Amino acid sequence: MSSQPPRTPPPPHEAAQRRDWPAYFDRMQGKPPRDTLLGALDAFAGSAPSEAPLAIDLGCGDGRDTTELLARGWRVWAQDSSDDALGRLRAREDCAAAESDGRLEIAHAAFENLRLPTGASLVNASFSLPFCPPAHFPALWSGIDTAIPPGGRFSGQLFGDRDGWATLEDRTHLARPQVMTLFDQYVLERFIEEDRPSAHAGEAHKHWHVFHIIARKRPLQGSA
Ligand SMILES: C[S@@+](CC[C@H](N)C(=O)[O-])C[C@H]1O[C@@H](n2cnc3c(N)ncnc32)[C@H](O)[C@@H]1O
Repeated sequence: MSSQPPRTPPPPHEAAQRRDWPAYFDRMQGKPPRDTLLGALDAFAGSAPSEAPLAIDLGCGDGRDTTELLARGWRVWAQDSSDDALGRLRAREDCAAAESDGRLEIAHAAFENLRLPTGASLVNASFSLPFCPPAHFPALWSGIDTAIPPGGRFSGQLFGDRDGWATLEDRTHLARPQVMTLFDQYVLERFIEEDRPSAHAGEAHKHWHVFHIIARKRPLQGSA
């Protein structure tokens, strides 16, 4: 009898490449909130926009960022197109409680033709916007920009044109100057450009070209 070594489970990005969200969330279970969200929340500290400010969490997935927002007293409009993701979000006790008392609204919707609510102070989009098909990205970004008031923030990631997935037709990848243009009305509080090969060999190898961003929309002239 030959004893094969146990196969190492594929890395989560392989599942994300195929949009296999159940496999992706199985692999990511228990992960902490994203660093860009934490940075944005810290940036608001001491200048909370209101007692229970509203955040939009785009492509919220299984809720790793939504739960942090709720724990910090934010109301959340959490959006995703995956049934599996939203099932996992609702299975979290804190999210179920927040949905029933109105602190959490869950939107089962795609990025394509998405309408965002008004009144948010933060739009968070962790590793989700690259999955918007390119033809729909300009309208999606316009909606995001409209939803963020002067003094409000964006946190999240955009993927660059040197990323290994840039050849996939259903993904949005932007060159650095295009990213800069999106944020010309913002102060970039964090702008990290990751441009490196992954440590994985073989099929799991991927080149990462990712912009990690926290940005504050410039206040209107004459206000603080
Ligand atoms: C890589 S996951 C990130 C999830 C979560 N934000 C996180 O940081 O773990 C990408 C998410 O985008 C969602 N997504 C992909 N394409 C989408 C689309 N066209 N409309 C809405 N959501 C989409 C997926 O369902 C998934 O939850």
